[in-house]
Amino acid sequence: MLSTLAVLSLASVVTSQQIGTFTPEVHPPITFQTCTTSGGCTTQNGSVVLDANYRWLHDANGVTCNPNGFNRTICPDATTCGESCALEGADYEGTYGIRTSGNALSLDFSNGGSRVYLLDDTDNYVNFKVLNQEFTFDVDVSKLPCAYNGALYFSEMPPDGGLSDTNKAGAAYGTAYCDSQCPKGINFINGTTNFDGSLGSCCNEMDLWEANSLSTQLTPHPCNVDGEFACTGTACSNLCDPSGCDFNPFRMGNQSFYGPGKIVDTTQPMTVVTQFITDDNAPTGTLSSINRIYVQNGNVIQNSKITLSGLPAVNSMTEDLCTDKINVLHDAASFNTYGGLAGMGTSLARGAVLVMSLWDDLGGGMTWLDGSTGSASTPGAVRGPCTSADVVSTPSAAVTFSNIKVGDLNSTFEQPASTPEPPPPPPSGPTQVQWGQCGGVLWTGPTTCASPYKCVFSNPYYSQCL
Ligand SMILES: *[C@@H]1O[C@H](CO)[C@@H](O)[C@H](O)[C@H]1NC(C)=O
Ligand SMILES: *[C@@H]1O[C@H](CO)[C@@H](O)[C@H](O)[C@H]1NC(C)=O
Ligand SMILES: *[C@@H]1O[C@H](CO)[C@@H](O)[C@H](O)[C@H]1NC(C)=O
Ligand SMILES: *[C@@H]1O[C@H](CO)[C@@H](O)[C@H](O)[C@H]1NC(C)=O
Ligand SMILES: *[C@@H]1O[C@H](CO)[C@@H](O)[C@H](O)[C@H]1NC(C)=O
Repeated sequence: MLSTLAVLSLASVVTSQQIGTFTPEVHPPITFQTCTTSGGCTTQNGSVVLDANYRWLHDANGVTCNPNGFNRTICPDATTCGESCALEGADYEGTYGIRTSGNALSLDFSNGGSRVYLLDDTDNYVNFKVLNQEFTFDVDVSKLPCAYNGALYFSEMPPDGGLSDTNKAGAAYGTAYCDSQCPKGINFINGTTNFDGSLGSCCNEMDLWEANSLSTQLTPHPCNVDGEFACTGTACSNLCDPSGCDFNPFRMGNQSFYGPGKIVDTTQPMTVVTQFITDDNAPTGTLSSINRIYVQNGNVIQNSKITLSGLPAVNSMTEDLCTDKINVLHDAASFNTYGGLAGMGTSLARGAVLVMSLWDDLGGGMTWLDGSTGSASTPGAVRGPCTSADVVSTPSAAVTFSNIKVGDLNSTFEQPASTPEPPPPPPSGPTQVQWGQCGGVLWTGPTTCASPYKCVFSNPYYSQCL
């Protein structure tokens, strides 16, 4: 009797909402700030939500819908699958190692990493529009060794998570992930069930931060699609620039800039500022450069300059760096094909969702980020100090992001104390040499003497430097 009731009530909940009821979904709260130059910063109440693919997906009887690919008894077709399968609530800390406190989010690698999105207080993803703005956060990368990546980036996901008749869960359950690699493992894309994994989930991606304690990279990845786009098969390779145009200080020739004990010291927390500059200094303009600034222990540290011979010594991501004017380090043709920096800006103008994740690549190492395996004689081939011997499983790996701020340029961090104006030099007119005249009726020449001589009165018509 009791068990029949339980099954009936579960069934009615599942078919009407497709939201699991075994574990309540409680989003860990986190605050962030919006800032203006004139008004300062205002605290906003948000929360983080775990990506849908990390969750248990099950039918009304608690049978997993996708034990190893979709179970075609539960999911004979897309509509039935969407109606029958429910996304379960997450035990954030216990199962996933995700904790928040105040304005801080910690991701522990305890159970193999995680990916979360920033939600507003209406359970929609915060839709950031950062053109002519800056985005700032603090990060502690000290517990991220080689081959681990604590990432913070923007993806052009739908702010409601793609709510529809077959997706009643939406952003509150972390649905509708996409990025510029067009990942094929996403269970549902734009309301369609990805039965055989042939569908990819593509969208514009702006990587503000992919980093561990050894190396860091800033990378725009434009696509020629708007929003979340379900691609099919090989067409998935012709929609986005998966390599992007990266700026990695180590790769750009400065190996003393970022790392343990270096200029930006990764044994300590740091503030990371990213500015999205447009050609007309307005949010409607074309994205023309992306600037990076660090703040650590009160010191404002400008990004390192490129120090590879043959390249101009820029310290920001400019159109020239990424496009065909300098194509030593990047596949400029690919970057341009998918819209270049301007295309990235068009996406950012539409708005993007904030993604924070922790993942590893113990198989081959995360060589594109931190690897030293490239040929030292090939410019830009060495991306960090890590060798295969440094790739070691580290369950204690963790990253903390905190103090997220977005707002007007220069409004989210303390500017360097302006060096005081030097005192004005003493008035200096022309001076007279030794023995020369320095005064007298009708005299219009210099009246001060070059040091150490003094102007000595001789008579009303004549004073002399002696
Ligand atoms: C955030 O939540 C706090 C505590 O509930 C409340 O006092 C504050 O007004 C909220 N802020 C905003 C911007 O809603
Ligand atoms: C597929 O679902 C059916 C119906 O719930 C179930 O009986 C069967 O065990 C499932 N198969 C697998 C491999 O989980
Ligand atoms: C998403 O699905 C809707 C409804 O089926 C469709 O109109 C739209 O074109 C799709 N969007 C993308 C980007 O695939
Ligand atoms: C690395 O960058 C710092 C800060 O810009 C600079 O002082 C230093 O000279 C650079 N080192 C090299 C080797 O380029
Ligand atoms: C931000 O500060 C930098 C350095 O102080 C300055 O060059 C730049 O013009 C400022 N930008 C704005 C929009 O105030």
